[in-house]
Amino acid sequence: MSRAVLEVRDLRVSYAHPLGVVRAVDGVSFSLAPNERFGLAGESGSGKSTMALAILRMIHPPGHIDGGRVFLDGVELSALDREAMRRLRLAGIALVPQGSMNSLNPVMRIGQQIADALADHGEALSRPVLDARIADLLPTVGLRPDVASMYPHELSGGMKQRACIAIAICLRPRVIIADEPTSALDVVVQRQVMATLARVQRDLGAAVILVGHDMGLMAQFVDRLGIMYAGRLVEVAPIGAIVTAPRHPYTRALVASLPSLEHRGRLQGIPGLAPLLRDLPRGCAFHPRCPIAGERCRQETPALRSLGTDGTVACHAAEATP
Ligand SMILES: Nc1ncnc2c1ncn2[C@@H]1O[C@H](COP(=O)(O)OP(=O)(O)OP(=O)(O)O)[C@@H](O)[C@H]1O
Ligand SMILES: [Mg+2]
Repeated sequence: MSRAVLEVRDLRVSYAHPLGVVRAVDGVSFSLAPNERFGLAGESGSGKSTMALAILRMIHPPGHIDGGRVFLDGVELSALDREAMRRLRLAGIALVPQGSMNSLNPVMRIGQQIADALADHGEALSRPVLDARIADLLPTVGLRPDVASMYPHELSGGMKQRACIAIAICLRPRVIIADEPTSALDVVVQRQVMATLARVQRDLGAAVILVGHDMGLMAQFVDRLGIMYAGRLVEVAPIGAIVTAPRHPYTRALVASLPSLEHRGRLQGIPGLAPLLRDLPRGCAFHPRCPIAGERCRQETPALRSLGTDGTVACHAAEATP
């Protein structure tokens, strides 16, 4: 297998909270192959966005990165100084943040917002060169060049999301992290935006991390899926294996909540309450909701282990296939 384009090792992030420390990301490791589309799914509060921000070292107080290392093409991001890291955002790894389509600057034209992103990253271009570059960029995300002169309120939701993708890819990053890029859009527009993201990913030869709730969308888009629960990865496997033979009881519950792949399933309907991160149970965090939990699960936190297939799972009860 070719070398990982992105490698995350034992990443840990916490938020200080008056009632206790919230361990939002608790020892997460995974890697991304070149051109791979990797999904991160898990219910609300499981730490998906925190992980995305931590990869880019964009965690602010009360949040804190407690540990872990991140490598992009073998370069350790966690060792870069603030300025080097700033330059690497967008150029190396680009984030389309959760809710970004609603955080476009309402009083600035789209073209100017892209120009600012380019300028921010040291691309000192003359106005005509800049305009030409933006006019070339917009069609790659399915927008007409004249969108450059428009304000966000003149765009539909889908167009705004495309503009956010344009900003993210303007420096041709190696990795794109898209955090719930389509959750505010209706189904038809969602598919169109995902198709655009897929095309952009292929054209750039980038790897993508798609963060989301929607298992149906994941099944259509990603090659491999990581399932997060209470700040940890509990299963990582090729999407086909996740859908047809999920190994973790939580993954099984998620897949069972999918009516069928043609119908859209959301991460709902799992019995029991999502855990309170600042007061996690001992042992496996999922055990209070788990139909097959035994004594060991109440005592010992399971580590992510290989199943002898392409997948890994963190469950005492999941057996390795021979
Ligand atoms: N700025 C913050 N201050 C304090 N706690 C935070 C902050 N951001 C996130 N958290 C806590 O960290 C945990 C993980 O949050 P995060 O936003 O990463 O989850 P998520 O999986 O992205 O959820 P969603 O699906 O709702 O976007 C939650 O318990 C949340 O309350
Ligand atoms: Mg989130």
